[in-house]
Amino acid sequence: STTWAVILAAGSGTRMGGDRPKQFLTLDGAPLFWRSAETFSHIPDLAGIVFVFPPAMLDESARMVEELTASRPLGLPWLTTAGGERRQDSVANGLAALPKECGRVLIHDSARPFFSAGLATRLIDALDEETPAAIPAVAVTDTIKECESGCVTRTLDRSRLVSVQTPQAFLRDVLEAAHALAVEKSLQATDDASLVEALGRPVAIVDGEQANVKITNPEDVRLLQKEAAMIPV
Ligand code: C5P
Repeated sequence: STTWAVILAAGSGTRMGGDRPKQFLTLDGAPLFWRSAETFSHIPDLAGIVFVFPPAMLDESARMVEELTASRPLGLPWLTTAGGERRQDSVANGLAALPKECGRVLIHDSARPFFSAGLATRLIDALDEETPAAIPAVAVTDTIKECESGCVTRTLDRSRLVSVQTPQAFLRDVLEAAHALAVEKSLQATDDASLVEALGRPVAIVDGEQANVKITNPEDVRLLQKEAAMIPV
């Protein structure tokens, strides 16, 4: 069986402001989501990429990928599909677009352009029948509190917490079962691993990367500019 990557680029990016979703911001002369595709293209074992785009921008985005591959070939087959209302709907659509022979899948937020091919490879390598999911995590450096109506209700034990990133790696059949469970039980999840947890299957932790930050707020765009400034033109 083969391994494919699903790149999620179907968010509206409302926290970013601006008139286009953040995944279409420019980094190194290409839209933000392209950096993730190029990183995946450096993984020898990867068989292909599914791009998930906003439904209203699907045609335009597919043309964009076509044009990009003309000057910067990925050397991999790729497909595009439309995303859904919530992130988990976009993942479900991405899964539905995978070819039959695909047995392992990496689910990745295009808002994290700085992960390494090495990280993705370690995640794939961590998968087996007993461990159907592997996710990158880093230690939490902030103290995390629960609060309600502007007041703290509880302080969590930081030594037990990790901050979780993407890409997240899965055996395809297990992730599909997890998403089916989410539909059946109306579960809401901000990452895919939590749906595998709900299924009662183990999720392995792999060391994440400090550089693998998520571009979420307007201030984060400075990270892109800093990065671009380091790339000679
Ligand atoms: O909203 P959040 O920052 O958690 O989104 C994480 C990733 O999921 C982003 O890359 C975004 O483009 C993607 N997403 C999506 N479809 C949605 C919502 C988010 O593909 N409906």
